[in-house]
Amino acid sequence: MYEEHQEGAITFLRPPLQDIPTTSMTVFFNPQSELNRDIAVVALQTFITEYELKHVRVCTPLAGTGVRPIRFAKEVEGIEKVIVGDANPHAVELIKKNRDINGIGSLIEAYHMDANELLSQYTTFHEKFDVIDIDPFGTPREFFDSAIRALRPPAFLCLTATDMPVLVGIRRKACIKRYAAVPLKTEYAHELAVRILMGCAVRQAAPLNIGLSPLLSFSIDHYVRLCCLAKEGDKDTWKAVSQVGFMIHCDQCGHRSITEGLIPQTLSCDQCKAEKTQLIGPLWIGGLGHEAFINKMSENLANFSLGEKRRISALLGMLKEEVNGPPTYFNLHQLADKLNIPVPPFQEVIKRLRDNGDFCVRTHFSPHAIRTSASEQTLIQLLSSLTLEE
Ligand SMILES: C[S@@+](CC[C@H](N)C(=O)[O-])C[C@H]1O[C@@H](n2cnc3c(N)ncnc32)[C@H](O)[C@@H]1O
Ligand SMILES: [Zn+2]
Repeated sequence: MYEEHQEGAITFLRPPLQDIPTTSMTVFFNPQSELNRDIAVVALQTFITEYELKHVRVCTPLAGTGVRPIRFAKEVEGIEKVIVGDANPHAVELIKKNRDINGIGSLIEAYHMDANELLSQYTTFHEKFDVIDIDPFGTPREFFDSAIRALRPPAFLCLTATDMPVLVGIRRKACIKRYAAVPLKTEYAHELAVRILMGCAVRQAAPLNIGLSPLLSFSIDHYVRLCCLAKEGDKDTWKAVSQVGFMIHCDQCGHRSITEGLIPQTLSCDQCKAEKTQLIGPLWIGGLGHEAFINKMSENLANFSLGEKRRISALLGMLKEEVNGPPTYFNLHQLADKLNIPVPPFQEVIKRLRDNGDFCVRTHFSPHAIRTSASEQTLIQLLSSLTLEE
């Protein structure tokens, strides 16, 4: 009943493809997640090389067909052992088959176990992991604690979240319950989703004296992905915790600002002085990634044969430009709609804003948006004047 499939450098067995992969498949497999796995391979190789890790131990406790850990074992250099798990017994049988097809029997151990239980088995320094990749159905939240406890820093914690309606604020109460953070359904909600997930992970790691920071984070297709550096000690933990704060959104003038710390310093809009604003968070208010790490990933991309290489190259190019930019972005299509004018040429808007001294780049979060230091009022004036010039 299984069919052969090729991805990256491996051939493996998977169930017949469905239009929409569902959790009721004998063993879950989503071909659309190839980009997620391709990036995971390049990010992992980059992490191992840049942090000069030796005898690397990896854990993928929610592995499905095993495509991800088997690709790690085959495509990434420097791995000593991959501990693989899944709660579905059919998945574990298939993982073992796929491991043997690919001739990497000694590198991969597969267990039929709940992810939290599996992670909790590894308690000593020698047993713990340099890399943990959590790729669940929906939220990774329930695995935060056991995953962070099973790391041996400096380590790499990668998380996928597909509970987008929760993270983007459509299911507001569920977000407060799950992530202890207030979301906002707004034009930049996908960035807020990344920041809420990251902020929650940082708060979970801090009591264990582990500081997390994103080397790479993004939201595309139907998910959020975080690839975090985990470092141990007071200094790094405090550095991480001090990058958790709140964002304030003003409905009156569209202004967004950041307030540091767990007690918001102000609730009013620092632009139009409106007293009633929307408080979002607590969330991660730091950078969305490390530019140097993303640059290295771009360089390393050339060494891999990947199905999604072109898309990844474009994504990394955009991330590189925007990681150090100001938080949030503006959807020019929505703004033009609101003003009842045609959508202006993006290149012209970007050029004018830069000529004005503002930061302005496109964002991977939306093809319709720009990340800029300019205010919504400045954008409104610019868009209106560009329409008049036509
Ligand atoms: C999204 S799929 C994983 C896909 C896989 N990582 C890939 O890249 O193809 C989630 C997997 O987690 C497994 N799973 C769900 N809950 C689990 C739990 N509590 N512990 C371990 N595995 C679990 C499911 O059986 C499923 O195979
Ligand atoms: Zn305002």
